[in-house]
Amino acid sequence: MTVLALETSCDESGVAILRRRNGDSASELLASEVASQIAAHEKYGGIVPEIASRNHLIYAPRLLNLAASSANIGLSEIDAFAATSGPGLASSLMIGASIAKGLAIGFCKPYLAINHLEGHLLSPFFESEQIQRHVSLIVSGGHTMSIFVRGLSDYQLIGRTVDDAAGEAFDKVAKMLGLGYPGGPEVEKHARSGDPNRFDLPRSILDSENFSFSGLKTAVRYLLPKLKGDFLADLCASFQQAIIDVLVSKTIAAAQKYRVNLVTVSGGVSCNQELRRQLGEACVRGGFEFKNAELWLCTDNAAMIAFAALLRLRAGFQSRVTEEIDPNLALAR
Ligand code: KG4
Ligand code: ZN
Repeated sequence: MTVLALETSCDESGVAILRRRNGDSASELLASEVASQIAAHEKYGGIVPEIASRNHLIYAPRLLNLAASSANIGLSEIDAFAATSGPGLASSLMIGASIAKGLAIGFCKPYLAINHLEGHLLSPFFESEQIQRHVSLIVSGGHTMSIFVRGLSDYQLIGRTVDDAAGEAFDKVAKMLGLGYPGGPEVEKHARSGDPNRFDLPRSILDSENFSFSGLKTAVRYLLPKLKGDFLADLCASFQQAIIDVLVSKTIAAAQKYRVNLVTVSGGVSCNQELRRQLGEACVRGGFEFKNAELWLCTDNAAMIAFAALLRLRAGFQSRVTEEIDPNLALAR
């Protein structure tokens, strides 16, 4: 079974081809092409939807040809076509979904509409392919949520951000500090040589299992004009630690409450080495197994969409080609 997937929900265009042979214990990634649009959006300090969709229109067909030729496969040999159908930017989602639907119709093959967040959620299982019962933390530029996973497609929302996503907070604070976009890797770089205890920034715990990061961002905004001298590394480290403390404590509390043995983390912010290290250590202390997605799978890519599609196809799922994209598509309620 060979699946081709497109990812065009935000500012990365991706095409991947994933194959699973009968009897094999694991899938083989035949191609995964990603074209980043960071350079096109950097000067605006964030993503411009109009520019993103125009670029997807240029890149997606090129990546499709590139993926097919690097996988040495003809499109007629693909067994199913998949695309991210939400959540994301409407005008961007439309490009990948239209291409996948067109190919599915043209080659008379199944179409699978994949939730982008399910792509992230399943990415820590890319190697093992066994979706165990667990608590999943998804931390990206657009989303921050914890999910109780009973198995494939059986998801229950535990908590979500009530304002900014963790990655959005990294990006906004980086912008305030005059650092580049995306902000997460920049903040992490400066934080490495900083003192995480120098600035006492708020940890917004809330009464519920939800997350909130806008207070932390505002605290940095008010603190900034008062600072003099050399503060960049210490501020980055203190800010990063405030985010990590909230993510770790809420995730461990959720794992205890739902009595799982496994915790996973995925999404762009899970590239952060300190988050991976501290969440991993907290899991060891709490007696939980811990899995994170490989670094190349954390930020947006089509391999995770192909993986979700392959698992869904094997479990008997298919989508109608009349299924619309949904910019607010929910993963779980
Ligand atoms: O998953 P992703 O590629 O796109 C979305 O689905 O949103 O995540 C992008 C986000 C950006 O906000 C970026 O700043 C953040 O992930 N990010 C990081 C790091 N690398 C990327 N945040 C913190 N530390 C990092 N090393
Ligand atoms: Zn994402």
